[in-house]
Amino acid sequence: MADTIIIPGEYRNLKQLEPARLHVDGKEYELPVVEGTEGERAIDITNLRKASGHVTLDAGYQNTGSCTSNITYIDGEKGILRYRGIPIEQLAERASFVETAYLLVHGKLPNRAEMRKFRNLLTQHSMIHEDMLTFFHGLPREAHPMAILSSMVNSLSIYYPEVASTGGEGNGEELDIAVARLISKVRTIAAFSYKKSIGEPFVYPTNYTYCANFLHMMFSSPIQKYKLNHVVIRALNLLLILHADHEQNCSTSTVRLVGSSKVNLYASICAGICALWGPLHGGANQKVIETLEYIRDNNIPVKKYIEMVKDKDKPQRLMGFGHRVYRNYDPRAKIIKKTCTEVLEHMKSDDPLLDIALELEEIALHDQYFIDRKLYPNVDFYSGIIYKAIGIPTNMFTVMFAIGRLPGWIAQWKEMHDSAPFKIGRPRQIYNGPLIRDYVPIDERE
Ligand code: ACO
Repeated sequence: MADTIIIPGEYRNLKQLEPARLHVDGKEYELPVVEGTEGERAIDITNLRKASGHVTLDAGYQNTGSCTSNITYIDGEKGILRYRGIPIEQLAERASFVETAYLLVHGKLPNRAEMRKFRNLLTQHSMIHEDMLTFFHGLPREAHPMAILSSMVNSLSIYYPEVASTGGEGNGEELDIAVARLISKVRTIAAFSYKKSIGEPFVYPTNYTYCANFLHMMFSSPIQKYKLNHVVIRALNLLLILHADHEQNCSTSTVRLVGSSKVNLYASICAGICALWGPLHGGANQKVIETLEYIRDNNIPVKKYIEMVKDKDKPQRLMGFGHRVYRNYDPRAKIIKKTCTEVLEHMKSDDPLLDIALELEEIALHDQYFIDRKLYPNVDFYSGIIYKAIGIPTNMFTVMFAIGRLPGWIAQWKEMHDSAPFKIGRPRQIYNGPLIRDYVPIDERE
């Protein structure tokens, strides 16, 4: 065996462990092994191709760390989720969504003065540019709220071009305003899209707290003011907190990848919203309720439905079940399940969909198919039942997810821009297509 070729690493700020050795094409390569603060280990292959000509292949990024991050820690085996080190259970129990948003974006919990300033910024920037209303007026009533949300967020770059031109390197103050603007306006856009869909006049934001303001814009009307209810406000805060970040999931990775081209913050967030929309990601919450309604309306025995989702010849899966990272109960689902019962009790609603969901869970958790694959309820399984009880229409569930996830996307986008070395995202591939061949003019083709 020839001499070992030592491949330099990129992540010198992480703890370095005993290097890994890779044998390929009769050569030995030494690759750095690094460790994060929670003991997660990675082989740093950044320079492997330069040294050996090999890339790594990993469809769906199932085993690829695309960045280092200080924001969110997940242990999927143990069912742990922490934002900036703080367990999700503590934030869910004691924090507000606005406080959590500040924590994610700024890396620390705000003190009183910081909290006041952040709240004021949110209130100050809660209205949308009056000219944007022309967009709303032109939209078809039946447009999906996610289509409206993504278009409107992208259009913020038209109406607020200051940040659009900075590509993420705006000064602190400018970025703080852009962040507040996004977090605040997204809620106004969401509520306006609902009003548009039901043909009611828009209700403008007021100086209420974040969730109360959203409920007011959704459910007040010129003839009746929405009666605020602390259980509903608390439940909404909780749902948004639980969705606020989840490290490098599909939509967050999209925000980072798109943002890595140095396009502006609004365009990057718009891309994240589109990625979230899909039923395998944030769109699952809408699909869960549709599944429960399908079971109810067609009187399908729950056991039979479970057999259907296990059948590989059938396309459907049990929506709201399974997760790429959690191989144990999703800690967010545990918290939501409890709140779900509380909200329904408080609202004196006994939604039969909850009974169907509970039965589905009970059967699935004891079924060998789900046990073998470590499939548990995820965050989307019970959230829709709460949204439904609050009065939010099913096609807006994913919008609610987007409102919650926004601070996480912003924090990840900001972290990427602040980190060095900054690299545009650009994965490799293994080409497996035809070898070189000549162009054939159309008349000579078979
Ligand atoms: N119902 C039935 N079978 C399932 C389910 C499900 N919900 N989820 C996974 N499986 C099965 C797969 O068929 C596969 O079986 P096999 O090994 O016999 O082929 C096995 O479990 C592994 O599934 P993968 O798709 O390889 O797992 P992956 O980690 O790629 O997918 C995902 C994760 C997309 C979340 C998947 O579990 C799923 O489709 N769940 C339903 C949709 C959903 O709830 N999405 C929301 C996720 S949470 C979020 O994004 C906020």
